[in-house]
Amino acid sequence: MPSSLPWDCDFPLILAPMQGLTNRGMRRVMVETSRPDVVFTEFVRVRPGSNRPVAPSDLAEIAFDPGAPQVVQLIGRRAEDLAAAARTAVAAGAVHINLNLGCPFGRMTANSGGGALLREPEEVREILAALRPLVPGSLSVKTRAGFDDPGEIFAFLDIFADTGVDFMVIHPRTVTQRYRGGADHRITARVVAETEMPVIANGDIRTAADAARVREFCRPAGLMLGRGALSDSLLFERIRGRAAAVPASIERALEAAAFLRRLHREYAEMFCGERQVLTKLKAAASHIEIDGLERPLRKLLRTGNLSTFFAAAEQLAAD
Ligand SMILES: Cc1cc2nc3c(=O)[nH]c(=O)nc-3n(C[C@H](O)[C@H](O)[C@H](O)COP(=O)(O)O)c2cc1C
Repeated sequence: MPSSLPWDCDFPLILAPMQGLTNRGMRRVMVETSRPDVVFTEFVRVRPGSNRPVAPSDLAEIAFDPGAPQVVQLIGRRAEDLAAAARTAVAAGAVHINLNLGCPFGRMTANSGGGALLREPEEVREILAALRPLVPGSLSVKTRAGFDDPGEIFAFLDIFADTGVDFMVIHPRTVTQRYRGGADHRITARVVAETEMPVIANGDIRTAADAARVREFCRPAGLMLGRGALSDSLLFERIRGRAAAVPASIERALEAAAFLRRLHREYAEMFCGERQVLTKLKAAASHIEIDGLERPLRKLLRTGNLSTFFAAAEQLAAD
């Protein structure tokens, strides 16, 4: 039987998991401002062979209610470790679990978790089969198009269907490609055509026009937005037609400053001391791109304390 999305929503717009960025404070502010229909946690790294398979800081992220449905993403390698982590996550309140099959970086790839699992289809089958009975809500995967060949994903579609995966998110680059080149949504369209499973399209959607193009071309079940949602704090609303589709730079500047002020209220509670709060705010601000404001945005990232940071943020709209 074809699986379906678990949310009562025609075409969900989903906030992507982004390690170091989409922490609980960011997720809450996004839900308040741009209103994604669903949010993902940053990946939760499974601790192999530990009797505490999920770190306490990750448990706080899992238990947090951002005000929208939340999917908890796990990254790891062995089925038994992932199963232990899933049990712990569910006990902490997770309803929906996602398996990371895309992370291209460092330790995870060396350890064959994340994107490196795309070299090991049978291991993926074993992991998903172990997770399925433990997850009360949806079980999903977030995958690249392949490890080093964008055709590799097609060998996984039956594995996902056989193991009861409810939906998949595809970011159509290979793992070895990292972020080079463009997301090739011809792959997304082929995946949509070849599986009955709902497919969420992800990658390089930065404007309402990009979203319309990918929707029209691929016919996915929904969209996931990552860097574009950080750059433009109202992108979800623009795609829905509830905010200007092509905003003027001054509007974007005012919205960015308001977003950073709101984020500061969360970060002041989450992080210790001005230095750490500033670092975290700059990490978010480093993804903001506004036409014609490249220099003042760079200046914002060079500020040394919160008061100069916010002065530079307010100044964006005046430049
Ligand atoms: C800084 C950063 C951190 C990321 N962390 C994760 C992660 O924790 N889990 C994951 O599945 N993908 C992660 N991604 C990938 C994004 O979720 C997304 O698939 C990718 O950025 C492409 O979408 P976009 O073009 O809309 O940003 C990360 C991306 C970035 C830029």
